[in-house]
Amino acid sequence: MKVYLDNAATTPIDPEVVEVMLPILQQGFGNPSSIHSFGRESRALVEKARKNVARHLNCNPGEIFFTSGGTEADNMAIRCGMLDLGINHAITSKIEHHAVGHPLEDLSSKGMIKLSYVNLDEKGNVDLNHLEELLKSNQRSFVSLMHANNEIGNLLPLNTVAELCQKYNAIFHSDTVQTMAHYPFDLRAINIHFITGAAHKFHGPKGNGFLYINENVKINPFILGGGQERNMRAGTENVYGIVGLSKAMDVSYADVEAHRKHIESLKRRMIDGLQQFIPGVEFNGESANMDNSLYTVLNVLFPYTQIGEMLFYNLDIMGIATSAGSACSSGSNIGSHVLHTIGTDMSRPSLRFSFSKFNTEEEIDYTLNQLKSLFN
Ligand SMILES: Cc1ncc(COP(=O)(O)O)c(C=O)c1O
Repeated sequence: MKVYLDNAATTPIDPEVVEVMLPILQQGFGNPSSIHSFGRESRALVEKARKNVARHLNCNPGEIFFTSGGTEADNMAIRCGMLDLGINHAITSKIEHHAVGHPLEDLSSKGMIKLSYVNLDEKGNVDLNHLEELLKSNQRSFVSLMHANNEIGNLLPLNTVAELCQKYNAIFHSDTVQTMAHYPFDLRAINIHFITGAAHKFHGPKGNGFLYINENVKINPFILGGGQERNMRAGTENVYGIVGLSKAMDVSYADVEAHRKHIESLKRRMIDGLQQFIPGVEFNGESANMDNSLYTVLNVLFPYTQIGEMLFYNLDIMGIATSAGSACSSGSNIGSHVLHTIGTDMSRPSLRFSFSKFNTEEEIDYTLNQLKSLFN
């Protein structure tokens, strides 16, 4: 049996998404910048997708900019958001994805910005009082805090942080890559300036994402070249990918509550089974908090075992795909800056199990049985 429980790294593409992409791959080759009929057809597809994404998020189509994925969108928000708006102080956390952490560290190490880290509690939750102190004691800040942590599933109270940012005239960027198309967004109702999405996290194609830029924020492009994306992101558009992203969003949001219920029941089954079969098992961050964590993620801290790091490989041999850290460091939790920051005992193996609508109870039971055999 093959069981894929690494959906926070990437999700399998939905057949309905493939269906709309295929004819474009086969025939829809026109360059959207060309003004002949081939180009115009492609242009129409891109603009239709933009409108559709904007409709789902309740924003204007002009606020959506297609990118090569979440990483590019985060980099653009941070670099252009800070430098073009003349903001020289950023507030972030030590458990952001590297797509956020590294561009911020880069600006800071070059002396271009001052970087402050908000305090976290022992489970990795943002200390909102400390955030307010940091906002109060700096002239104008750029706040970058992720909506849901991809490793430990902690959720940020997005509205509260947005209100705080508004109070102190700060620019607010949130990496929403893990929550996009899994949670509803109403961008007209919240004071947020940048959010990001990546299609492959919601059963769309890889190499496709977008950046939402609030229309009141004026920045310059991150990638320079042609005039695509209304002069904001140069490079010929990935038309079939953009159409796939838009369709994946339709498919996800059409049944989002049913998917959520299904995935939550799998996660609960996993938690119950682990507690029953593996004495001493614990959970990292908030991931086992069913009321307040990303429902797709469960990060498990196993009891000390002789096989240690080999737990991941043993499961892999048994056909079960998990992650021992974030996607970039699959196979090793040495590099997990998130687990390290929240003080996880690194002498015990931690594994992230992340679920999707395509997982089944049988898969969870198979996984639990294999784990039971490894710990007995
Ligand atoms: C929270 C978060 N941000 C950003 C990214 C990067 O997205 P992409 O793979 O589309 O560049 C990921 C993917 O691992 C992620 O989980």
